[in-house]
Formats: sequence, C-alpha cells, structure tokens
Amino acid sequence: MRVDLALIGFGHVGQAFVRLLDSRRDRLLRDWKLDCRITGIATRSRGAVVNHAGIDGVAASLMVEAGGALHDLGEPATDVVAVVDRVSAGGSDVRIVVETTTLNIADGQPAIGHVRAALERGCHVVTANKGPAAFAYHELAALAAARRRAFLFEGAVMDGIPIFSLVRETLPAVEIAAFRGVINSTTNHILTALEEGEAFAPALARMQADGIAEADPSLDVDGWDAAAKAAVLANVFFDARVTPHDVVRAGIDADTAARARQAVANGCRLRLIASGARGERPSVRLVELPHDDILAGLRGTANALIVETDLLGRIAIGQMDGGLIQTAYALLGDMLAVTKLVRR
Ligand SMILES: NC(=O)c1ccc[n+]([C@@H]2O[C@H](COP(=O)([O-])OP(=O)(O)OC[C@H]3O[C@@H](n4cnc5c(N)ncnc54)[C@H](OP(=O)(O)O)[C@@H]3O)[C@@H](O)[C@H]2O)c1
Repeated sequence: MRVDLALIGFGHVGQAFVRLLDSRRDRLLRDWKLDCRITGIATRSRGAVVNHAGIDGVAASLMVEAGGALHDLGEPATDVVAVVDRVSAGGSDVRIVVETTTLNIADGQPAIGHVRAALERGCHVVTANKGPAAFAYHELAALAAARRRAFLFEGAVMDGIPIFSLVRETLPAVEIAAFRGVINSTTNHILTALEEGEAFAPALARMQADGIAEADPSLDVDGWDAAAKAAVLANVFFDARVTPHDVVRAGIDADTAARARQAVANGCRLRLIASGARGERPSVRLVELPHDDILAGLRGTANALIVETDLLGRIAIGQMDGGLIQTAYALLGDMLAVTKLVRR
C-alpha cells in the first residue's frame, strides 16, 4: 500500500518524525507492506515543496538544519493549502497530512485550518499539535467522520504514550469519570531541578536546548501547554466543549523555588497537576503531593496520567523518558492506525 505524507511544519517534531520513519522504512515495508513517501513539506519560513516521486526526509532535515530552504527538493509550492491540494491529488492509496506547526494558544489557528483543509480534500490527519483538539475537537472529529477519514492526535498529550488509543481501542464501553496527571515535561523538569537547589533559568534552558520546551517557553511555564492538554482530555473523554481559556490555570516561575524546597522539607513534592472530571471545569494547579502519591515520584521529563473509570477503577499510565523520539513515535503510531482503518 502506498502512503503519501504531507508534512505541515518541519521543526523539532517534524524532523524527528522523518528520521524515525527513515529508520523504520524497511520494517514498515516488510511487516506492514507500506511504501511511505513524503510528497510534500510546508514550513513558515523555509518554503514549501511538493515532489510526487518522494522527498528524502533526512536530506530535507539536514538542509533545514544547515539554514537552507526546501525549494531544491522538488517543485516549490506557495503555501500549506497548495501542498495539501497537490498531495491529496497524488492518487496514492492513502494520503496523510502530518500537522506539527507551532501551538497558537490564542485560538489554535492556523493549525485548525490546516486540519480542516486536509480532511476536506480527503486526507487523513495525524498531529502532535494540541491546538486543533483543544479548540475545535468536535467540529474536526465530525468532519473526519463525515468524510470517512481519521483525525488522530496521540502526540498532543504525553508524547508517544497511548492515552487516546488506549481508551479508544482497549477500553470499549468504559466511561472515564476523571483524570489527574503530570502532563508537561518542561515544568516537571524545572520543578525537579528547583527541589535540588538548581536555579530556574538553566533548567529551562536545558529543555529549550533539547527541543522539548515550546517554541515560546512561556507556554510551558505559565501553564498554557498543560491547560491545552487538559482541554483536549476533557473534550475527548467527557464530551466537553472547553478551550484552554476555560481551564483554571497556574504556572511556575523563579519564586516557585522556595515552595518546591519547602515541600521537600515537609516530606512532599510540589507538582503541576492537570485534572478534570465529567461536568466540571478542568484545572492546572501547583499542588503539594504526599510522597506516596505516584505523581509525586515523577522526576525530570517523566509524565503520568491517572484516569478514573466506572468499571476498572483507577488506571495509571506513565512515561519515564518523554522526548522528541516519543512524540515522533506518536505520529508513526497514528499513521499505522490510519492504515489499519483503511484496510478494515
Ligand atoms: N517539541 C516537543 O517535545 C513536542 C512534544 C509534543 C507535542 N509538540 C507539539 O508539536 C508541534 C511542533 O513542535 P516543534 O517542537 O516541532 O516546534 P518547532 O520546532 O517550533 O517547529 C514548528 C514548525 O512549524 C512550522 N510552522 C509554524 N507556523 C506555520 C505556519 N503557519 N505554516 C506552515 N508552517 C508553520 C515552522 O516553520 P519555520 O521553521 O519556518 O518557523 C516549523 O517548521 C507543536 O504544536 C508542539 O506543541 C511538541
């Protein structure tokens, strides 16, 4: 089966995805009979390109890293919609738009428009961007259903750890009543560093250098990233109609150091906790947790989510090592989920 991919956004996550795809290419062909080709890439400042014969993603990544533009890798395109138009007209078995543009916390745009344009043109969509499901989940899910296409966003919450697919695929007829978790890696890394007496700025700088902090790191430290994830979880699990602006929100700053160290002195841990319950307003709060709470034990970029269910009690799922490879894997996993749906 031939799978054509349009990459909308080609930064840390988009480039980690092409490297992962490259490293798994033989296995995808052998075990999944998938011939995956990148036939379009669109960025904000590095140009946009289409090539139906396939673009070498790793070469494109090296070119962007070296400060070059993408035009030499195929036919230049004017913008995102032109790339989606031409990839969708490519005639392959499956066309997937991989949306990894920057989170816009004001209104989720232009990513919502990118997802809409892709679905309207018959493409499936996989994304690590929280914006579309945080601001327009119901509209986009309905559009995808009407067009018999997938709109998947596993990478939007907790990188590659299956949250949405866990519930969708393995918990049929189970109702989620509430969730509670540490779901922002940057703030958890900083809080852990503050507990150990390190200063705020270098701990944040490390997350920026590793490509884990948002392009605008205030989105992480002011709690917006966690609020966007809480909105996605509430919209999907509780059929809520909330945006990140409806989430009660707290963040961290250099003054949090004293509270973090006091919590340790009290035998506790200070953690940025996102939580939500059916029919209630989701929240992101700094909470002093007793040391035997499993969320208290999460250090560095570790994340975990506890979901409260009606039939199975509480289920906890966590990742000890969040990062770019894990987010890239979320996109790959969603891509494979799309091909399974198509084959059904
Ligand atoms: N980094 C992580 O660990 C992580 C984890 C989970 C989810 N995410 C989410 O994944 C997404 C990408 O993150 P990232 O770290 O890869 O960000 P990034 O490095 O800043 O890359 C963003 C990419 O999107 C492009 N872009 C931005 N606005 C665009 C527009 N209007 N039209 C076309 N292209 C546009 C940028 O183009 P230019 O290069 O030209 O600016 C860049 O190629 C974000 O939504 C983020 O929240 C990230």
